[in-house]
Amino acid sequence: MAQPKYRTHVGMVDILPGEVEKWQTIERIIHEEAQKFNFEEIRTPILEQTELIARGIGQLTDIVSKEMFAFERGDDQYVLRPECTAPVVRAFVEHHLEQRGGTQNLYYIGPMFRAEKPQKGRQRQFHQFGAEILGSDDPIADVECMAFMMSVYERVGITNTSLKINSVGDPESRDAYKKALADYFTPHKNELSQVSQNRLEKNPLRILDSKEEEDQTLVAEAPVIGDFLNKESADHYRKVKQYLDELGLAYDEDPHLVRGLDYYTRTAFELVSPDLGAQDALAGGGRYDLLVEEVGGQPTPAVGFAAGIERLILACDELGIKLSKPKSVDLYIVTIGDKARSWALQQLPIFRQEGFSATMDYAGRSIKSQMKDADRENARYTIIVGENELNEGTFTFRDMEASEETQLPVEEILDRLEKKLDPQE
Ligand code: HAM
Repeated sequence: MAQPKYRTHVGMVDILPGEVEKWQTIERIIHEEAQKFNFEEIRTPILEQTELIARGIGQLTDIVSKEMFAFERGDDQYVLRPECTAPVVRAFVEHHLEQRGGTQNLYYIGPMFRAEKPQKGRQRQFHQFGAEILGSDDPIADVECMAFMMSVYERVGITNTSLKINSVGDPESRDAYKKALADYFTPHKNELSQVSQNRLEKNPLRILDSKEEEDQTLVAEAPVIGDFLNKESADHYRKVKQYLDELGLAYDEDPHLVRGLDYYTRTAFELVSPDLGAQDALAGGGRYDLLVEEVGGQPTPAVGFAAGIERLILACDELGIKLSKPKSVDLYIVTIGDKARSWALQQLPIFRQEGFSATMDYAGRSIKSQMKDADRENARYTIIVGENELNEGTFTFRDMEASEETQLPVEEILDRLEKKLDPQE
C-alpha cells in the first residue's frame, strides 16, 4: 500500500473509533466522580500567553525551557498549553471567581502539549484530567484532591498503584533546604551529570528529579527536606498524613519527591503504577500557595492534581480492563428496492425516538451484502422490507443472535424491542 502523503506530527495521535469508546467511558466516570466530590468543570482555551506559562511553571523547568510549542502572531506570544494549572489560575484571577464565595473546586479534561521525545506513555499532544481547589490552605483540601484522583482509578479498576507523598515546604523551609543541598552536592560536583551540574547553580532541588544514572547514588544519600521544614509546613504535612490515614488512603512517603514544575509549596504527590514501564507516573499534583499572587491575583492558597489519560488507558490495557463494549446497533433495516429505502428512512426516527439505535444501508447494496453489513455492525435485530412487505404492512423481524424470524407490523416490532432491549441512554 502506498504511504499516505499526510500524517500526524510525531507524538500526536488520532483516537479512532474502537479506541474512542474507552475515552468516552473514562470521561463519563470523571464527570460522575467530580459531581460526587462537588467539583465544577472549567474549560479554558488551548492557547495561552507564553508569559503566563513561563512565569507560572518556572523559566528553568524542562517544560518551559525545552518543551513549549510557542509562536508569535502580530505582537502576541502564544503557547499551546503544556498543563492546565496556570490557565485555571489565570481564569480564576481574570474572572474574579473568588467573588462567587467559598473555595473554588474546579476540574478539567483536555489536551496538553509538550515537545518531549515521544515514547510509550509519552506524547507531544496528550490529555489530562485534573482538579484545582482554590482558596483553602486546609490539609483537608489536599486530601480531598487526592481522594478525588484515586476515586477515578478505583472506579476504572486500577488498584495496583502507589501514592507517593512529600512536602516541599514553604519558601523559608525550601531556602534552607536548597542551601543544604548545595553544600552537600558542591564537593561532589564533578561526579554529577552535566545536567545536574548546571542545576546545582540554578536550582539544586531539581537534581533530586534527575533521571541520569551517574547521579543516583549521590541523590539517594542527599539531605531530605523533612529535616528543614519549619513548624508551619511540618504541621501541615503531619495533618495531611493524619487525614490520609483516617480515610484509609494508603501512601508511601518519598522524601526526595520534587515535581517538575516550580510552583509547588508544601504538599507534593505522585501516583505511580508498576504496570506502566518507564513512564510510570499516572498522575501528580500538590499545593501551590503562591501561584495566584504570582500571576497577579490576591494571595490565595490552592492545591490540585492532573492525571494522564493515555497512561490510564495504557494501564487498563496492560491489566486487561475492558473500558468499552464492542460496538453494536439495536436495529438494522434491510431494504429491497427504492420504496423500501424511503420507508426505512422514515421509520428510523420512530425507533430512535423510542431510544433505540437504528440504521440502514446507505450504499444501495444487495440484500446479501446488507445482511453481512448488519452482522459487521453487530446488529441485535434486523427488519427486512421489500415491496411485498410494504403492501401487506407486515415485516420480517429477525433476531440476529437467535436466528429467529417473525412477520410483524411495525407497532409490534417496537413493542418487542421495548420488551427485549433497554433503550440506550
Ligand atoms: P505533571 O506531573 O506535569 O503535572 O503532569 C501530570 C500527569 O500528566 C503526569 O503524571 C502524566 O500522567 C501526564 N503527562 C505529563 N506529560 C505527559 C506526556 N508528555 N505524555 C503523556 N502523559 C503526560 C501537571 O501537569 C500539573 N499541572 C499537575 C497539578 C495540578 N498540580 C497542581 N495542580
